[in-house]
Amino acid sequence: MDQILIRGGRPLSGTIPIGGAKNAALPLMAAGLLTANTLTLHNLPHLADISSMAHLLAELGVEIHMNGGVENGHTGRAFSLCAANVADTTAPYDLVRKMRASVLVLGPMLARTGHARVSLPGGCAIGTRPVDLHLKALEQLGAEIELKEGYIEARAPKGLTGASILFPVVTVGGTENLMMAATLARGETVIANAAREPEVSDLARCLQAMGAEIDGVGTDTLRIQGRESLHGADHVVVPDRIETGTYAVAAAITGGTVTLTGTRAELIETLVNSLQEAGVAVTATNDGLTVSRTGTLRGVDVMTEPYPGFPTDMQAQMMALMSVAEGASMITETIFENRFMHVPELCRMGADINVHGRSAIVRGVGGLSGAPVMATDLRASVSLVLAGLAARGETLVNRVYHLDRGYERLEAKLAACGADIERVRQ
Ligand code: EPZ
Repeated sequence: MDQILIRGGRPLSGTIPIGGAKNAALPLMAAGLLTANTLTLHNLPHLADISSMAHLLAELGVEIHMNGGVENGHTGRAFSLCAANVADTTAPYDLVRKMRASVLVLGPMLARTGHARVSLPGGCAIGTRPVDLHLKALEQLGAEIELKEGYIEARAPKGLTGASILFPVVTVGGTENLMMAATLARGETVIANAAREPEVSDLARCLQAMGAEIDGVGTDTLRIQGRESLHGADHVVVPDRIETGTYAVAAAITGGTVTLTGTRAELIETLVNSLQEAGVAVTATNDGLTVSRTGTLRGVDVMTEPYPGFPTDMQAQMMALMSVAEGASMITETIFENRFMHVPELCRMGADINVHGRSAIVRGVGGLSGAPVMATDLRASVSLVLAGLAARGETLVNRVYHLDRGYERLEAKLAACGADIERVRQ
């Protein structure tokens, strides 16, 4: 297993290009199942999760053509997906267990073919992550759902019928699965308490380009008029706001100045507010934003919430930053039940953090010291890299396969801004 070796203490300075959003690209690829025509997606990031989704769709009979490299000024890849013949409707366990987002093929496949057999994703490091809300809502659209031998068996022999759905908690994947299924259901579907994440809105806009009729995009109530069929489209994936936020924190924690391009400051408005409150200068540019920290960092309180609140996917990164701020910070995680695995590893680097239930008290320390640390999940891993950039001495991050799922060329992007960071191949 590869490792990442960092020699910390160097302020970052330079420019980092931001790629297309992983958490938009995954549902967008699944949306290709909704039509027999070709859906072309631009600005896709080169990530392990994207390859896993492509592998799953190919297993289902989707024809995929990829072209790499820079095209039309985007840094990402373009994929053309054609699901003219969905040969198989089973998403097998060995693929789903590697990537929970595979469950996003459930709604589109059921709506398009009337049948879907998807392995239950199982839990992951940050929590049990059930999909019960997806299933209950699909049953409201008329699906017959059974759980057999670890698989979700979903049938809709007479097709799906629109319904009024109210999610008891905001679920990004649940909203995406239902929105996709509803585009081919008979009549109107209303989704109340819908997720408003930019990735959900990006999916809605792509579905509209495919001929779907969706109102309320960006609000917590989506209204979808079902169609007989959808046609192909071209769509550019929205920039990755979590990658944007991660490198903004990298600039702040090293006391450097970094310009992020190919993104938009308004995608991370709540995070920007927290960074500015902590003493970080953030300036919007016409192609992204510039982040700079020269003075003292102040501790600020943070509570994760569904969008537009503070993103849970930025909680670990913010905790790394707060561990070297002056004063204390209370960080509360309201979305997932076990998303503090980065705490013991940050403490091994000298951070002073105490977890009480869903909240962590972070008391800023003068500085961190490098250490060998263990990555446990995608965002916890990157918080250890951020801490290593600021720490004195060497930090060796193990199990970096977690990082490769969500960060494209992380060490190259950071090294280009002066970080002393390298991948150690095992
Ligand atoms: C998406 O996961 C993202 N993944 C996650 O990003 C992100 O952390 C999460 O949304 C919250 O923003 C992708 O988009 C591929 P949820 P998702 O359904 O859809 C509970 C990353 O690091 N819930 O919004 O799985 C659930 O347990 C990843 O890129 C149910 O109880 O998240 C959680 O507590 C990590 N039943 C809460 O809702 C359900 O049926 C929010 O989950 C569904 C969810």
